Amino acid sequence: EKGTYPHFMLKEIDEQPFVIRNIIQKYQDENDNIMLEEGIRNAIKEADRLYIIACGTSYHAGLVGKQFLETFAKIPVEVHVASEFSYNMPLLTEKPLFIFISQSGETADSRAVLVQVKELGYPAITLTNAPGSTLSREADYTLLLHAGPEIAVASTKAYTAQIAVLAILAVDSARAKGLHIPFDLTKELGIVANAMEVLCDSKEEMENIAKEFLATTRNCFFIGRGIDYYVCLEGALKLKEISYIQAEGFAGGELKHGTIALIEQGTPVIALATQEHVNLSIRGNVKEVVARGANPCVISLKGLEMEGDRFVLPSVLEAFSPLVSVIPLQLISYYAALHRDCDVDKPRNLAKSVTVE
Ligand code: F6R
Repeated sequence: EKGTYPHFMLKEIDEQPFVIRNIIQKYQDENDNIMLEEGIRNAIKEADRLYIIACGTSYHAGLVGKQFLETFAKIPVEVHVASEFSYNMPLLTEKPLFIFISQSGETADSRAVLVQVKELGYPAITLTNAPGSTLSREADYTLLLHAGPEIAVASTKAYTAQIAVLAILAVDSARAKGLHIPFDLTKELGIVANAMEVLCDSKEEMENIAKEFLATTRNCFFIGRGIDYYVCLEGALKLKEISYIQAEGFAGGELKHGTIALIEQGTPVIALATQEHVNLSIRGNVKEVVARGANPCVISLKGLEMEGDRFVLPSVLEAFSPLVSVIPLQLISYYAALHRDCDVDKPRNLAKSVTVE
């Protein structure tokens, strides 16, 4: 039920603070200990490398998850698009563990890989929103998103839920290895949920950005470095799938190797600046595109903001910035689609779960 919302997508964007709080509750006991199936812990402990397999938005969440698992838990991770992996399997390590990320749990491309992996005898975990789904039933273990049904074709709350559960998994795996985590997970995720709420209350601002930058444009670029780059991929996917604006997410440093040729007078470039160690370099990229006529919209994290930034995100742990920086991108896409008279919840040519390979 949409209730008073004009679209499921807007409702689901607004549910994100609640979903994060719900995930904290479902995965932690009253003493803030993480509750995970022992089998999952052991599977991760025994693995020498994790292979994350997913499609679309879930793949983008996987890229962020890799960052968590490698930096917090020091476990090597590869992230693969399911449709490519199935016929172009990389050389696997001796003890691989597969993590399938799928909101629906029914995506045929991901399932094809799961079937292959099971034939090879390797263990698999499915991270899904749908407990009874095919991918959940056919994997050894399931991690649930607890995000509630996602109806809009464009995935929003499932993406942030996937990232939150991957953060919990990474912190738990780090602790299991005796590694020190320099922050309080419950507290930091709580701060994220509060920040999400502030962003969900910034709809007017986002609508203005959509009107100013995207009302008539043919294309749009999203640039970022590191984890911001991964969020840019997701921002671009969201924009193209519902507004039909040609959009691309680029690693800031990669622009000059070709793509910058596409920048013309007035081309919108949305830049994310949430990471201190690359703040100056992404600012440099913004200058490069502005010099070629781009219309820049910089979204920065509080503490890293500079003069001229279009929007400043509330302060959160830098590592968790994808959970908040994606919300303006979701909202901007929503309003861009709305003002271009697109069918927000049911974009052309797309289905909610893709059950063909
Ligand atoms: C984009 C979107 C798709 C899905 C992809 C995988 O908004 O929804 O890219 O993320 O089709 O779907 P699941 O996660 O159900 O396997």
